[in-house]
Amino acid sequence: MHKDFENFCRRFQGLTGRNEDGSVSFTKGIPMVKELISSDLWFRDFIKEALSERSWLKQQPPSLWPNELTLYRSPDRSFLVLAYILEPFSMDTIHDHGSWGIIASFINGTKEIKYRRHDDGTVAGYAELEETIAKVVKQGEVTCVLPLNGGIHQMGNTSEKISVTINVYGRAVRRGYLQFFHRERKTVKRVYSPRTCKEVLMVRTMGAMGSGEDILRGALVNSLPDYVKEEYETALTVSKRRAP
Ligand SMILES: [Fe+2]
Repeated sequence: MHKDFENFCRRFQGLTGRNEDGSVSFTKGIPMVKELISSDLWFRDFIKEALSERSWLKQQPPSLWPNELTLYRSPDRSFLVLAYILEPFSMDTIHDHGSWGIIASFINGTKEIKYRRHDDGTVAGYAELEETIAKVVKQGEVTCVLPLNGGIHQMGNTSEKISVTINVYGRAVRRGYLQFFHRERKTVKRVYSPRTCKEVLMVRTMGAMGSGEDILRGALVNSLPDYVKEEYETALTVSKRRAP
C-alpha cells in the first residue's frame, strides 16, 4: 500500500474509531479526503499492483455496482474506501445509501443531482422525489451524503473522458441493500448484491408461480438476514393468493 494512502487510512481511523457508532465529523473528514486526492500517485500504484496481481480481482467483495473497486475496509468496519470508475456520458440510477459518505471527484469532474423524498415510505414500492440540487463536482471537490432518505442522489459523468471518484463510507445503519428510485414512475425498489439478488429473484418467482410454500415457510426458521426473510414472507403471501 502506498504511504499516502496508508497515512490517510490511519488518520481516518482516528476519526471513526473514537465514536462507537462510527460516525464522523464531515468538518474533520472532508479535509483528509481532499488531501488524499490532491495527488494521484497512490492510486496509480494501486491500479498497477491490482493489475499485476491476478488474484486481486477475485478478492474483491461482490458489489451491486460493477464499476466499484474496494480499496480499503477498516478492521473495525467503521469506514471503507471505494473508487468508482465512471465511463464517459454515464449516469447512475437514483439511489440512497446505508451510511454517511464523503464522495470526491478524483480524476476529472462528475455531476450530482440530489433529491428530497416527500412520501413517508409506508406504501411498498412507492416514492415521491423532488430534485433539490443539480451541480458539477469539479476535480478536487467533494460532496456528502447521509444515510437513507438523507442521501438520495444520482451521480454521473457528463464528459467524454473517464472519471474516477473516491468514496469514503461509514458504518452502515442499514445493511444488505440499497434502494433504486424512478422519479417519473414514482417507484422505489430494493437492490441487492449479485448473490442475494439471485436468491431473491427465485423466491419472488416461486411466490408468483403460487408454488413452494413449504420451502418458503421452511426458510423462515433459518437464520437469514431480516431483509431476506421479508422477501420470503412477501413471496409466501403472494403464493397463498395465487395457489389454487
Ligand atoms: Fe451514491
